[in-house]
Amino acid sequence: MKVCVIGVGYVGLITSVCLAYKGNDVISMDSDYDKIEKLNKGIPTIYESDLEPLLNEMVEKEKLEFTTNLKYGVESSDVVFVAVGTPPNENGSANLDYVFGAIRSIAKFVNGNKTIVIKSTVPVGTQKKVKRIVSDIIHPKYKVNILSNPEFLREGTAINDFFNADRIVIGADNKNEAKMLLRLYKDFNQKIIITRPESSELIKYSANAFLATKISFINEIANISEAYGSDIDEVVEGLASDHRINRSFLNAGVGYGGSCLPKDVKALIKIADDRNVRSELLTSVENVNKNQRKLLFKRLELTLNDVTNKEICILGASFKPNTDDVREAPSIDIINDILSSHGKVKLYDPIGMNNMKSLFHAKEIEYCKDIYTAVTACDAVVILTEWEEFKESNWKLIKDLMKGNIVIDGRNVLNIDNMLDLGFNYKCIGSRVQKMSELGTGVIETKIM
Ligand code: UGA
Repeated sequence: MKVCVIGVGYVGLITSVCLAYKGNDVISMDSDYDKIEKLNKGIPTIYESDLEPLLNEMVEKEKLEFTTNLKYGVESSDVVFVAVGTPPNENGSANLDYVFGAIRSIAKFVNGNKTIVIKSTVPVGTQKKVKRIVSDIIHPKYKVNILSNPEFLREGTAINDFFNADRIVIGADNKNEAKMLLRLYKDFNQKIIITRPESSELIKYSANAFLATKISFINEIANISEAYGSDIDEVVEGLASDHRINRSFLNAGVGYGGSCLPKDVKALIKIADDRNVRSELLTSVENVNKNQRKLLFKRLELTLNDVTNKEICILGASFKPNTDDVREAPSIDIINDILSSHGKVKLYDPIGMNNMKSLFHAKEIEYCKDIYTAVTACDAVVILTEWEEFKESNWKLIKDLMKGNIVIDGRNVLNIDNMLDLGFNYKCIGSRVQKMSELGTGVIETKIM
């Protein structure tokens, strides 16, 4: 099929490359000339493993081209995806300026029957508004269907997620209008759910809000576990063995960040509030998340006695591993807290440092080339992103290089027994005690013969 994708951000670029891979002719449009130039040369504009070879292959095979020419993209395509950003307004609501701007431009260039698909995360009721805008602009002889098709991919595993999502959700005013998208997704081998647009729009927000709720829930349980000396790893294991609960998104830590969960929880609270629905739960989810960051800094402060003039090594800038994205990352708040308490920061992240440089000047914090340089002569190490590299580092050597022996593990990734054996003053989120298995207990699997 002939497809146009507006916006080459995370969702737009992955959608373009993956739909091209599935055999469609894709024109990907963005007004950012520099990005378009790079992408046409096969150079990715986001960090995502596996993206570069696929992007190159699609550009070389001429299945995918990038342009700044919206008219060309729209006129050449049957299906037009809108994948532009919906950044938060001051009051938490989603800013729809880019979406409506794109829609007006697309409508101007409609030259036949088309399907316009809203992939951006948009508040409930947006498809209806888009429909009105489009019908006011296009020639009445054309039939243009407006669909909602939210995206559930995660940064770091985006391509795999696109091809293997648990479900594809299509919001349409009637089944017939969804047929172009059904054709596009016909060999995706994924469950397809067709809903009314208002449901599809709410599914997207509630999925992210539910994931955020799981994280805040387990963080609250971790804090309770600490007060009573329960081991959070054991608690999670016991919880996750109940298939109704399941294991995912139950990692206790410094809390969620990124460009989606924080923004979408806020936006959903606002969506509810707009219709006078008080969202007590989501407000608490947000508060628990904010408090986790404060709690981690408090722990650092208490362990160090005083942060003033102490050298603190931060391991992990990005909001999660396998991405260089630092948007709403816990590292930003923790670094700000340390700096305002007159502590000194040395930072290392495998790929997130460049993005951090636009937030903290090299005069404010020291950017280090590797983990060992970062820990050298530090009073304390704080882990904020669960990079494999940190788990696999030589912690014996790190102990020798450090001045102090404090490690605050904000992602509960290091082996507690190992850290205590090496002589670290090791603190994590929720208590984790020396493993019960050493005391002769632990998980015993029984089988009925
Ligand atoms: C999230 C959703 O998972 C995707 O399904 C969705 O498509 C995407 O937002 C979006 O709306 O675009 P993403 O922001 O890439 O994806 O990141 P997640 O993997 O969801 O992680 C979010 C945050 O939660 C990270 O800071 C991570 O460290 C934290 N987290 C995750 C925890 O603290 N504990 C966990 O158990 C899991």
